[in-house]
Amino acid sequence: MTPRLRFEAISKRFPGVNALSDVSFDVAPGEIHGLLGENGAGKSTLLRILSGVFRPTSGSMFVDGENVSFRKPMDARGAGIAMIHQELQQVPHLSVAQNMFLGHPLTTVGGLFVSRREQERRAAQALSMIEPGIDPAAPISSLKVAQRQIVEIARALLDRARIIAMDEPTSSLTPSEFERLAEVITKLSASGVTIIYVSHKMDEVFRICQRASVMRDGKLVGAVDVQTASHQDVITMMVGRELMQEQHVSHATATVKLEARGLSSLTKIRDASFKLHRGEVLGIAGLVGSGRTELLRLLAGADRLTAGAIDIDGKTVNLRNPRDAISAGIGLVPEERKREGIIPVRSVTINMALASLGSFSKAGIIQGGKLRNTAEDLLRRVNLRPFQLDRPIRLFSGGNQQKAIIARWLASKSQILLFDEPTRGIDVGAKAEIYHLIEALAADGHSIVVVSSELPEVIRLSDRVLVMRDGRIAAEIARADLTESAIVAHAIPGANTGRPPAPAA
Ligand SMILES: Nc1ncnc2c1ncn2[C@@H]1O[C@H](COP(=O)(O)OP(=O)(O)OP(=O)(O)O)[C@@H](O)[C@H]1O
Ligand SMILES: [Mg+2]
Repeated sequence: MTPRLRFEAISKRFPGVNALSDVSFDVAPGEIHGLLGENGAGKSTLLRILSGVFRPTSGSMFVDGENVSFRKPMDARGAGIAMIHQELQQVPHLSVAQNMFLGHPLTTVGGLFVSRREQERRAAQALSMIEPGIDPAAPISSLKVAQRQIVEIARALLDRARIIAMDEPTSSLTPSEFERLAEVITKLSASGVTIIYVSHKMDEVFRICQRASVMRDGKLVGAVDVQTASHQDVITMMVGRELMQEQHVSHATATVKLEARGLSSLTKIRDASFKLHRGEVLGIAGLVGSGRTELLRLLAGADRLTAGAIDIDGKTVNLRNPRDAISAGIGLVPEERKREGIIPVRSVTINMALASLGSFSKAGIIQGGKLRNTAEDLLRRVNLRPFQLDRPIRLFSGGNQQKAIIARWLASKSQILLFDEPTRGIDVGAKAEIYHLIEALAADGHSIVVVSSELPEVIRLSDRVLVMRDGRIAAEIARADLTESAIVAHAIPGANTGRPPAPAA
């Protein structure tokens, strides 16, 4: 059978980097094909070539046996290729429907005016296949990240694409949203649409893909049959070595560093009380929307308390804004890290130092040597690739930009560090490094709060876990009792009511 898509010896060179070298593989019609590899392996670059954003330095592509060459994204779109990007490319002030028809609006007879009603009708039709709850007339900026992602997928459906390439489409989706997406993808594949699926979440790739290609340093290292391969096989192919499953080590002390007493907020938090100890890693689990991020924002001075108080070292602090929190020694590593500030044209080193420039300066002058040493140490530990410390941050892959921002907070002098989804979009090897760094910070006497949707991550890192539900702390689970099912049982509404807990989504 003619493959739907064939890459033949694709190479892409950027100044100083071989992003892709001689990549060849085939994907069948209706196949769901995973694309795996560490941060910077070349996955997004390959998809950008497929979707006409970049031209390859050399090599060819074939769609249904026909040699194609795209000069611009519109060419790829015309050939039936839709791309769902890692960074959402939507125009905030336009409506959902307008975003879905961006670049090729539906016009009234005669082509003079955009037909808003018709756009909204068709948008609603496409959306109803995945997420009927989204209003096509709503401004896209009023939607959550997960919903905006779904709009992108609906947009590909509108385009009647033969090939849909998805670059980490689920990094912001909940497990149940992923299930919905998995259903849609399976349906599309049954109708002959080919899907290329990039993800760092191995479980997802194993769950929905038939085959996966594994890339390392711009080269294809092999293809795996998902039915027969094990996770460990794939990880070994990706990182070129076996990763050790490490044990949890606790550095928690009996000293209370922070105490939250009856915190409530307009955002959703109700009567939250807990203690955070010196050297402790406190995990916060719960469904999306249960108030995990909102709780962190209260501690970081980003939202206001309507009741309750926060004590640090036994003294009540008044956190009116993030600046107050920073001076109280609290640092928040937010969920949407990139939006919260990188300077694209400056080096990865400067971007890493942004939260702690003071500690690298003397009389207002940056001390290059000290900055360089810290950058070398931390950026090596997060496994920055390529390891080029003067390279502008915008040239790094998505995951590597994330690593630099994580390193920024590791370099800061905050005694209390709040991490919201610290390893989203980060590959397995670097994840292990970030876990080590968090542990090293705890060993160093920092107090750490980690919000994570990945249960294995919460369990790997935490000395103790708070489970949130509907803005309240529904349970506290000690290390000894920490299991995925214990967390799920408390996270799901209706648990603890005598009914058996619902199965994990
Ligand atoms: N526009 C660009 N200019 C220069 N170098 C680039 C550019 N885009 C990507 N690169 C480099 O190409 C390599 C591959 O990057 P790519 O974004 O394809 O990685 P990726 O596999 O998608 O990683 P991630 O999992 O972090 O998203 C990286 O070394 C990156 O720094
Ligand atoms: Mg990428």
